[in-house]
Amino acid sequence: MAAARAGAQRYPADPARAFVSVCTASEAATGLIESILPAEVAFAEAFHDAAPAPLFPVEEALVARAVDRRRAEFATARACARRALAELGVAPGAIGRGKRGEPKWPAGIVGSITHCDGYRAAAVALGNAVASAGIDAEPNGSLSRRVLEAIALPAERDRVAILATVSPTVHWDRLLFCAKEAVFKAWFPLTGCDLGFADANIAFSADDTAFTARLLVPGPQVCGRLLSSFTGRWVCAGGLLAAAIVVPRRDTHTPPGSRQQPERP
Ligand SMILES: CC(C)(COP(=O)(O)OP(=O)(O)OC[C@H]1O[C@@H](n2cnc3c(N)ncnc32)[C@H](O)[C@@H]1OP(=O)(O)O)[C@@H](O)C(=O)NCCC(=O)NCCS
Repeated sequence: MAAARAGAQRYPADPARAFVSVCTASEAATGLIESILPAEVAFAEAFHDAAPAPLFPVEEALVARAVDRRRAEFATARACARRALAELGVAPGAIGRGKRGEPKWPAGIVGSITHCDGYRAAAVALGNAVASAGIDAEPNGSLSRRVLEAIALPAERDRVAILATVSPTVHWDRLLFCAKEAVFKAWFPLTGCDLGFADANIAFSADDTAFTARLLVPGPQVCGRLLSSFTGRWVCAGGLLAAAIVVPRRDTHTPPGSRQQPERP
């Protein structure tokens, strides 16, 4: 971590160039999460572990006893994180791990990491613009009934069943799980506390790719306001699902899809 801090330098950020993929050009054209992240969030994604991505010693230690598969996903996701951080002007450094597994970002940065079969990604932002972010990706496949019962409230199960009849190409049960994981990843850096699957009630919009996670436990204060819910976006493409939550510091942030016309500082 010391190496990361020591190496962290700031350069002018250019959010317009925030979409940097560590995958090939053709895969970049079908990138997954760009459409669900506001322009102030930089990200990088990969669809496979091309070559063993180099790790800093602190990171090596975190996966020293891991199986090859875990090591590869960890290293590729860390490489994505460094690519995304570079877009914010942060020089390469180690990204450690906190006690609950959370990535330890350089000072002044917030962000999130995800990996699943066929996908790795990291999203980062300047902490003076974004209070917290959570991203999660999952294969677009059904959850077992047992898992759905463990993670979903009765009302969520009912809504998922209805959505499955309306739009059967999306595995809404898996998307619910994905959204809950994104909620947790946004929640944890704000609170330092766990959040159970029954502690947030998620509703997907019928009209677009928005979703709301209503907190059923007291939420954290963000910039003087009490957070009672998170809003997020989801996407389904190429056999993958992804969900993203970005908590802005101010009331407004650049809507997803407007990456070409970013607000200049
Ligand atoms: C932490 C958790 C969300 C990870 O999700 P996952 O789908 O298993 O795995 P993903 O690959 O998508 O994400 C893993 C990454 O999450 C990040 N992460 C782990 N713990 C985290 C935490 N406490 N806060 C924020 N991010 C965290 C890490 O970067 C990790 O990757 P890394 O170990 O390579 O650094 C999950 O294991 C968990 O603990 N879930 C229970 C809590 C929950 O989801 N509650 C629902 C609230 S409605």
